[in-house]
Amino acid sequence: MNRLSAQSPVLDVHLTPDHAERALREDARAGLTASPKELPPKYFYDARGSELFERITALPEYYPTRTERALLEESVAAIAEASGADTIVELGSGSSAKTRLLLDAFRPTLRRYVPQDVSEAALRGALDALAAEYPDLELHGVVGDFTKDLGFLPERGTRLIAFLGGTIGNLRPAERAAFLAHVRSVLRPGEQLLLGTGLVIDEPTLVAAYDDAEGVTAEFNRNVLHVLNRALGADFDPDAFAHVALWDAENSWIEMRLRAERAMRVRVAELDLEVDFAEGEELRTEISAKFEPETVRAMLTDAGFDLVRWWADEDRRFALSLATAV
Ligand code: AVJ
Repeated sequence: MNRLSAQSPVLDVHLTPDHAERALREDARAGLTASPKELPPKYFYDARGSELFERITALPEYYPTRTERALLEESVAAIAEASGADTIVELGSGSSAKTRLLLDAFRPTLRRYVPQDVSEAALRGALDALAAEYPDLELHGVVGDFTKDLGFLPERGTRLIAFLGGTIGNLRPAERAAFLAHVRSVLRPGEQLLLGTGLVIDEPTLVAAYDDAEGVTAEFNRNVLHVLNRALGADFDPDAFAHVALWDAENSWIEMRLRAERAMRVRVAELDLEVDFAEGEELRTEISAKFEPETVRAMLTDAGFDLVRWWADEDRRFALSLATAV
């Protein structure tokens, strides 16, 4: 094959709509019958939710995306130099917005890019665009759920797994530890992890980032109810729920909730389930943990990584850590 002609991207699907639907049913049943009620944040991201999240990233209050991007712009040359990986695996790549920064900086050593996402449509779109722009690069997309199984990742090359955006903050401490240990277990010694983490900052700035004046985050939060209505035949009235964002200092995380503004009974047809909400009852929809630098280092060390280098913006709002599997 002519090396200069675009190679067709490979796309492995390890998460079929069937699987995804079964997971949603199980998670919705467990979460809606738990006390307090809870839903996992990964269900925000249907087409509308992904669009709302894109809008969030451009809000004046939502500093994480632009802070991480600026930080990556500043540090990516040093990251590439310290890494030398020939394969970049990006977990939760979504629209692959930060990808080009990485690909360009790693160009001297890079042979392969492996984006992973739960959304097959997002991956296809990203891969087609990248195939045209980076004809030399081997592209291998993986549709899968990184919280469940990384066993599906291709093993070729010397890999850097990038997990950006601060999404690790969506996991509780035990889940985080298990996730990082799992990442470590699929890597060979010397392979690397590039981790983005939000840092603990002042409470008003944190809360505003999750409760913007325009109400986009509120719509994003309520969107999970639209997802349940459509996917499971539920009859939630999303407008009857108020958006709540609060800082839990003890756990060092932002919590998003939906508060029932009146007592109501919701029917989830496909689960054959009726769920009662008391007036004022809250459904937790997301945690987004923020870290102290020492906590990041400790969780990496505990999982079997050595922290190679660390970058933070001047306001110390966000950090990137480059770590090597021991
Ligand atoms: C995409 C998980 C990093 O936790 O800040 C944005 C999602 N939630 N606004 C975050 C989110 C509310 C975001 N992550």
